[in-house]
Amino acid sequence: AAWEKQVRLSSTPRRTNGFSVLVTGAAGFVGSHCSLALKKRGDGVLGLDNFNNYYDPSLKRARQNLLSKHQVFIVEGDLNDGPLLTKLFDVVPFTHVLHLAAQAGVRYAMQNPQSYISSNVAGFVNLLEVAKAANPQPSIVWASSSSVYGLNTENPFSERDRTDQPASLYAATKKAGEEIAHTYNHIYGLSLTGLRFFTVYGPWGRPDMAYFFFTKDILQGKSIDIYKTHDQKEVARDFTYIDDVVKGCLGALDTAEKSTGSGGKKKGAAQLRVYNLGNTSPVPVGRLVSILEGLLSTKAKKHVITMPRNGDVPFTHANVTLAFKDFGYKPTTDLSTGLRKFVKWYISYYGIQSKTRKESQATGESG
Ligand code: NAD
Ligand code: UGA
Repeated sequence: AAWEKQVRLSSTPRRTNGFSVLVTGAAGFVGSHCSLALKKRGDGVLGLDNFNNYYDPSLKRARQNLLSKHQVFIVEGDLNDGPLLTKLFDVVPFTHVLHLAAQAGVRYAMQNPQSYISSNVAGFVNLLEVAKAANPQPSIVWASSSSVYGLNTENPFSERDRTDQPASLYAATKKAGEEIAHTYNHIYGLSLTGLRFFTVYGPWGRPDMAYFFFTKDILQGKSIDIYKTHDQKEVARDFTYIDDVVKGCLGALDTAEKSTGSGGKKKGAAQLRVYNLGNTSPVPVGRLVSILEGLLSTKAKKHVITMPRNGDVPFTHANVTLAFKDFGYKPTTDLSTGLRKFVKWYISYYGIQSKTRKESQATGESG
């Protein structure tokens, strides 16, 4: 069928020993960037995404259009659709899965808790069930999250630090994912590598994230809310630029062990690995806002709220020694440089629908 032909074409590598990678969440922010990077270096890539409307689906369609220009095909379907996943693995002998599909966002979990269970727990298990039965068994790299460190006050966070105080249901499902991965590695010998991303930002980013809607609201002259911690300190994040995260994902795929089909303590059984992928340099949210003000040449209307947002953690800060040691991960983009690239993309994608534009029209400049 035409569908099968597209699936095969997209997932066939163009270089010797190239990977054939199933990227779940390929229409998402991180997934679209990783899919392109893999395709550009000659790997075969097939995307899977359900195009849900957690945020503007037209942005997901635009990413899909970009990917299709590079011959990356995205199958529209859900992680929980077992027969569909089985069919994909029947058609394509995937060497790897880059599993990025999830219900993301920390605070939305209070409005729609079930979507987190469905995608991040049930959907992940469904994918693992299919992967374990596939021949060959793929190596799996999946997105965990810095949120697993929760209310931990170690600074910076290392992979062995405690992760038993999640502050949101989102964090709890990401932590559950790590425990679930352990069991599939232990029993079935699946090679599993978890990546704890730290507040990733950049072009084609997620409209539900602060840096994104702060940009929008500043340009539109709307006020923005800035939250504090319980003890009235500024909240800080280890904001990590998308290109650095993409390099980390590819590095983790390149060094992933092979699945062995037999787990437990057997000799040569694949290890479960977990890595921080952060920027190693936390920045207070107030500083994020002032960088944006500079880039947009507009003062933000700041509304400081003297309490934390439900589900928020006070700070995040990654120690990335382990990822550096195992696959040379080294973040290279500071927040100002990365935000400059984001703002450039934002303005070219949306145009400036803002007072800046109205002003330039009023003065006769082209906008
Ligand atoms: P995103 O929402 O842009 O991408 C996720 C994609 O998965 C979306 O396109 C969505 O439509 C799809 N999806 C969701 N549920 C699905 C399901 N059940 N079946 C099929 N497709 C489904 O998010 P992102 O920022 O690209 O995040 C990618 C991954 O990284 C997620 O697992 C997220 O939890 C994790 N993560 C992201 C960040 C960040 O700051 N962006 C930080 C830590 C962890
Ligand atoms: C982000 C992603 O949204 C999660 O999907 C991801 O798992 C998480 O990173 C992670 O690293 O694990 P978060 O850091 O909370 O979560 O990202 P934002 O929602 O963009 O918030 C960033 C900062 O801005 C937070 O400190 C938050 O308190 C602050 N903020 C947010 C405000 O001050 N005002 C707002 O209106 C919104």
